[in-house]
Amino acid sequence: MSVYTLALESSCDETSAAVLKDGRTVLSNVISSQVPIHRKFGGVVPEIASRHHIEQVIPVIDQALSDAGVTLQDIDHIGVTYGPGLVGALLVGVAAAKGLSFATGIPLVPVHHMEGHIFANFLANPELEPPFLSLVVSGGHTMIVHVKDYEEFEILGQTRDDAAGEAFDKIARVMGFPYPGGPHIDKLAAMGNPEAIDFPRALNEEGNYEFSFSGLKSAVLNYLNSKSQKGEIINEADVAASFQKAIVDVLVEKTRNAARALGETKITIAGGVSANKGLQQALQHMCEIEGFTYYQPSSILSTDNAAMIGCRAYYMAQAGKFSDLHLNAKPSVPIGAVAWGDTSK
Ligand code: KG4
Ligand code: ZN
Repeated sequence: MSVYTLALESSCDETSAAVLKDGRTVLSNVISSQVPIHRKFGGVVPEIASRHHIEQVIPVIDQALSDAGVTLQDIDHIGVTYGPGLVGALLVGVAAAKGLSFATGIPLVPVHHMEGHIFANFLANPELEPPFLSLVVSGGHTMIVHVKDYEEFEILGQTRDDAAGEAFDKIARVMGFPYPGGPHIDKLAAMGNPEAIDFPRALNEEGNYEFSFSGLKSAVLNYLNSKSQKGEIINEADVAASFQKAIVDVLVEKTRNAARALGETKITIAGGVSANKGLQQALQHMCEIEGFTYYQPSSILSTDNAAMIGCRAYYMAQAGKFSDLHLNAKPSVPIGAVAWGDTSK
């Protein structure tokens, strides 16, 4: 008999609900984005995000059930993002999921947002099985994760300061692009010369899988400031291309080195920045040279969505990892944390 998952995601500025069949078939994936609302503030305003999640969460769930052609009676478990993210935003999804679980008796599965991003790869690539390496790059996180099994993750390295997406957004902002800036830099970079400006690459010694993007960010800001102070013309496409290449080079090189060191031959990417065309092409190229197999989620599954949360929830449910109704939102929680049976402390 088929297993049906209802999943909710509300960790940042997307309210999303999805229904999955047997963990890997997406029957519906409804996403209500608040991006246009936050754009005029240049970034996500947490309090505004929470209010919109409250307005959207029930209609989005209704829509997901109806698009999938199922009712709550068909649902076997409810997966919900409990962290990391904006606490007020997370709380809306968690409260909705707990309310539904309490009213219907459907078991609750507490999902880590970044584990969800990694599991988006299972939806996009039906043949993919662990073990593999995942380059996880979002607005809040940058890390290389060794996915040893569906339930076993090891972080090989992460960022010491800014996340890759944060660096994209900050540079885009000073260049006058609206939030979120990553996709704008991506488009502009395609028209520029990536070798035009030599921006710094940090922590690039062998065996180091940590990242740091704050030096790069300062270098780009200094470059832009000094050019405008001197009244010189700035080639924005070259700046975007050179900045993006500096990020991409580091991400690709560290992923390659980690895969070589572990003897891992499958590479996946996850998180919003995985939608970046320059990064996708560079990873694909590296994998071809190294003889690795490369997997990536589609754009819609790369950025925040509930289908990826549903996929993670399905595998957790298979492993018996449910939560009681004490589940609480956790703004900061490491990947692989044990949250089921959470007592909110
Ligand atoms: O995973 P995500 O949707 O939300 C978080 O969990 O953070 O990632 C959002 C981030 C933003 O920083 C956004 O600018 C970045 O992903 N992003 C991109 C692209 N599309 C989204 N960055 C670079 N190139 C893109 N095409
Ligand atoms: Zn995300």
